[in-house]
Amino acid sequence: MSECQDMLQAVDKAARKIGDECGSTEVALIAGSGLGGFAGRLSDRTVMPYKDIPGFPLSTVPGHAGEWITGTIAGKRISLMSGRVHCYEGHDACSLAFPARVMARLGVQILIVTNAAGGVNKSYQPGDFMLISDFINLSGIHPLCGPNIDELGPRFPDMSNALDGGLRNLARSAARDEGFDVREGVYAMMSGPAFETPAEIRMLRILGADAVGMSTVPEIITARHAGIKTLGISCITNMAAGILDQPLSHKEVLETGELVKERFALWMARIIENI
Ligand code: HPA
Repeated sequence: MSECQDMLQAVDKAARKIGDECGSTEVALIAGSGLGGFAGRLSDRTVMPYKDIPGFPLSTVPGHAGEWITGTIAGKRISLMSGRVHCYEGHDACSLAFPARVMARLGVQILIVTNAAGGVNKSYQPGDFMLISDFINLSGIHPLCGPNIDELGPRFPDMSNALDGGLRNLARSAARDEGFDVREGVYAMMSGPAFETPAEIRMLRILGADAVGMSTVPEIITARHAGIKTLGISCITNMAAGILDQPLSHKEVLETGELVKERFALWMARIIENI
């Protein structure tokens, strides 16, 4: 059996387990820092720890719950991934692609991906939200490396409109309804786990990046490969390295996430309601 069939079989096994026990939904959400508590807002929840899903990659990051949750918010049933894996944890391309492939096989049509990010654009401020219009993958890893799974999508998928313009418009008006404006810009993915150097941030700015983070791009690429529409949202938790005369810390990332989580959750509920 080819490696590729192995992968599809593993994905299907995971999708069957989730489908049987949690059901499938049209919309899925991957919650990054800042949306950690969102799961608590879902009613009629079915919770499945990742460790109970065959083949599902496990996160080692403290504070990442590692649960697949199906529940209702704003009258809609959604699937929520509370916790995700990152390339800096040592996961390979297949593992990074696995969750979005499972979504594809479950019949998910829209994926909302959220993250915490550093502001590269100097006009941004901690606490801002940025709709991701496009991305630059500087992580050194590509989730579609390895044999292509033709059942999911083509070998050379187009990434011209990886982030859906219609969903961005919907998210922007949902934010206005909640009484705030959002930024829109380019997300650069670096591998981490160290925060970037000031020189790297200057480079990213020259390259056209507005925000920088260590996640999200693998999930967007994999979802697009499989024909899932994507909406990406960054919570700017800190200014990127070298902009302010202060060291960066994960503590600051978590603190800003905590400050904006109420607003983020209300906005997210409205987005889901309007989809
Ligand atoms: N760099 C990379 N990832 C991040 C940052 C940052 O400044 N802030 C939150 N995630």
